[in-house]
Amino acid sequence: TELKKVIQGIPKAELHLHLEGSFEPELMFKIAKRNKIVLDYASIDSLKEAYKFNNLQEFLDLYYIGAQVLLHEQDFFDLTWAYLTKVHSQNVVHVEVFFDPQTHTDRGVPFDVVITGIHKALEKAEHELHISYRLIMSYLRHLSEEAAFKTLESSLPYKDWIDGVGLDSSELGNPPSKFVNVFKASYNYGYTLVAHAGEEGPVDYIWQALELLQVVRIDHGNRCLEDEALVKRLIEEKIPLTLCPLSNVALNVIQKMEDHPALKMLEIGMIATIHSDDPAYFGGYMNENYYETAKALHLNNSQLKQLAINAFEASWLTRETKEKHIAHVK
Ligand code: HPA
Ligand code: ZN
Repeated sequence: TELKKVIQGIPKAELHLHLEGSFEPELMFKIAKRNKIVLDYASIDSLKEAYKFNNLQEFLDLYYIGAQVLLHEQDFFDLTWAYLTKVHSQNVVHVEVFFDPQTHTDRGVPFDVVITGIHKALEKAEHELHISYRLIMSYLRHLSEEAAFKTLESSLPYKDWIDGVGLDSSELGNPPSKFVNVFKASYNYGYTLVAHAGEEGPVDYIWQALELLQVVRIDHGNRCLEDEALVKRLIEEKIPLTLCPLSNVALNVIQKMEDHPALKMLEIGMIATIHSDDPAYFGGYMNENYYETAKALHLNNSQLKQLAINAFEASWLTRETKEKHIAHVK
């Protein structure tokens, strides 16, 4: 259709993507087989059948199980490379992606194995696909701050390969305030800070992410519209929100796409951006997220382009590079 062509034609930046969430069942079965791991599911179809979630935790339970088949550097390379070639086909030209070191190191997979596989795929994509990238290490918020500190320490030999730190996993009951010290330490080591907040958690968690953690972007942040003072602050300080519409529907953060706050946020001047979160689990990559949002909210072409421009603005590219990409969107 015309809308799909328009979306394909727009160069895009993806800023909210969990590499472990891009693990397609087909690749999961392939890697399980070569690692001699027997999955609890008899077939790719029966695994896909299980992808029905009532909330964030039900998704996370499956997401962590899927990640267990990743053991070797080649596995992390293949996972990352599959994602990058997929989004390359969707005209994504810049990515800032998350990985969850603790999901792997807690199973005995060395930090070095994880990051080397990911790094090699990102470098290959930069050279061969001309996709620029940043890498963000996420702390799992259901674990302790002490555990996050251990992860920070493990990351230091690879500091040049990592641009930022994030905060993900089970939000309710695990407020940003739990991680104030490790975020401060991460900042002092030169990492740029982001955090998931206001996906399932209350507006107060978004305030905490801003004031206590001092993040430069909020991942999700859907619930900010409940608080006028917070909206004012996000607009004044130009704090971007990395929204993930298909994720929000899949995890019941919203009831249906028509209820998504993206358009409202654009209209009031927030730096709203669109991403895929965990595309293998939620039914779509970047183009599908743009398409379903545009269709449900009746976005016009200029609003679609604004979403793409916002993502370049929200990225950690240099001013000059942002301008180059933005000129291509227009
Ligand atoms: N929210 C929190 N943690 C996550 C998500 C998410 O959407 N995806 C992967 N880990
Ligand atoms: Zn996320």
